[in-house]
Amino acid sequence: NQSGEVGLFRANLAAEPAIVRFAEGLDTRVLLYNGGNPVIEAREGDRIEIDFRNGIPDQPTTVHWHGMPVPADQDGNPTVPVAAGASQRYVFDLPQGSAAPYWFHPHPHGHTAEQVYRGLAGIFLVKPEKDPIPAEYGDTILMFTDLRLAADGSIPENGMMDRMNGRVGDHVLVNGEKNPVLAVAKGEKRRLRLFNATNARFLRLNFENASMVLIGTDGGLLEAPVALDELLLAPAERAELVVAFDQPGPAKLTTLDYERGWMGPGKPEEAGMTLLTANISDSPAPAMPALPAKLREIAPLPAPVKSRRFVLSESMSGMSMAFQINGASFDMNRIDEVMKRGDVELWEIVNKADMDHPFHVHGTQFQIVEYEKDGKVTKAPYRSWKDTVNVVSGQTVRFLIRQDMPGQRMYHCHILEHEDLGMMGLLDVQ
Ligand code: C2O
Ligand code: CU
Ligand code: CU
Repeated sequence: NQSGEVGLFRANLAAEPAIVRFAEGLDTRVLLYNGGNPVIEAREGDRIEIDFRNGIPDQPTTVHWHGMPVPADQDGNPTVPVAAGASQRYVFDLPQGSAAPYWFHPHPHGHTAEQVYRGLAGIFLVKPEKDPIPAEYGDTILMFTDLRLAADGSIPENGMMDRMNGRVGDHVLVNGEKNPVLAVAKGEKRRLRLFNATNARFLRLNFENASMVLIGTDGGLLEAPVALDELLLAPAERAELVVAFDQPGPAKLTTLDYERGWMGPGKPEEAGMTLLTANISDSPAPAMPALPAKLREIAPLPAPVKSRRFVLSESMSGMSMAFQINGASFDMNRIDEVMKRGDVELWEIVNKADMDHPFHVHGTQFQIVEYEKDGKVTKAPYRSWKDTVNVVSGQTVRFLIRQDMPGQRMYHCHILEHEDLGMMGLLDVQ
C-alpha cells in the first residue's frame, strides 16, 4: 500500500535460520523473520494478506498477531500449526479505530518460548488516517529483546531455572543492538514506541535527563497524556511515550530493580542497565509543536452482563513446576470457557502464585477497571486499551472485555515458558 490510500496490503514473510555476529569472531545461530525483526506498517481499513513460509527445518510454527482484531482462524493459534517447510496465507481486515502498536510472534504448541528467544518477533504498526501526535516528533521504535550467549556464541537451551521463572537473558537488546545511540537536538521531542518482546523480563524503565509522557498503551493512544517518572513494561506490553530532551545530555534510558517474585537462586541483575543513550547536540531543535491535551476518545465499555474468574497458580510437581489457570494446565482438546460474542464481561484475574504473571487475551483489547491487593482496591487511574496486564503476586485485576468475532481464542501468562508449561486456557466465542 504505497499510495497512502486505504487498500490492500500484501507482504511475504518467512521464518528462517540465520547466522548473526553478536560477539567478535563468534557465529550465533538464530531464527529470524525475513532475516531480521521486521516492522510491518499498515493503515486502518486496510486488507492484509501475508504469505508466510515456515523455513524452520525441524519444527512447526505459527504467526500470532498479538493484540490485533484478527479472525480466530487467521490468528496463528497453536491449534492451526504451519508444518516445517509449509506455507500459509494469513488474511484479515483492519477495522477503523484499530490503530495501535502491535507485534507478532510464533505460537506453536510447546515451542513458543524457544522460537521467540531464538529471535522470532516482529512489529506490526497500524496507523490512523489522522494522527494527533505531531509529525515533528518522528516515530521511533524501541523493540526490547533479551539475549543469552554461551562462550562459543551459541544460544543455550532453557534450564530448570528458566522454566521456573521464565528465561531472562544477559543482554537486553534494543532493535537488535546493545545500548544504541539516538542522536537528538536540544529541546527535541520524540515519539517512542516501546515493545517488550522478551520472554520473561520485566522492564522497569527510567529516562535520566529527559522527561517522559505516556501517550499510549497496547491498544493505541490514551485519551490524554500522562506524565511519568518511570514505566513498568511487563513481557508483551507496549507503551508509547513522548520524551522531551530538554536538558543537557546525554539522556539515558535505564532500568530500575523490580521484585517480580524470583524463585530460587540466581535472580538476574535488573537494575542499572543502560538500554539506550540519547546524545543531545548543542544546536537547538526547530520549534516543536505542543502535544495536544486531548488525543482521542475512548468510549467506556458498558456494564458487564456476566463475570468470570481466573485463578493463576503454580505448584511444584516432582522436580518441575506446574503452572495452572483455575487448577488446570492447558489442553488443546479442552474448551475451558464459552463466551457470547458481543457480550461485555467482567474478568477477574486472581494471582495466587508467588510471582507476577502478565495475563494476555487474544483477539481483542480490554479496559482495566481496578486492582485489588491485601483488601485494598485501586481504581485504574485512566482509561486505556490493553491486551496484556501484569498481575502482581497476591493481586487481583478486574477488567471489562468483549469479543466481537466468533472462534477459539487463547488466554495465557505471557512469560512464554509459563505459557508453554500450561498457564494457558482456551476460550470459545460463539
Ligand atoms: Cu503474544 Cu498468545 O500471545
Ligand atoms: Cu496474543
Ligand atoms: Cu507466568
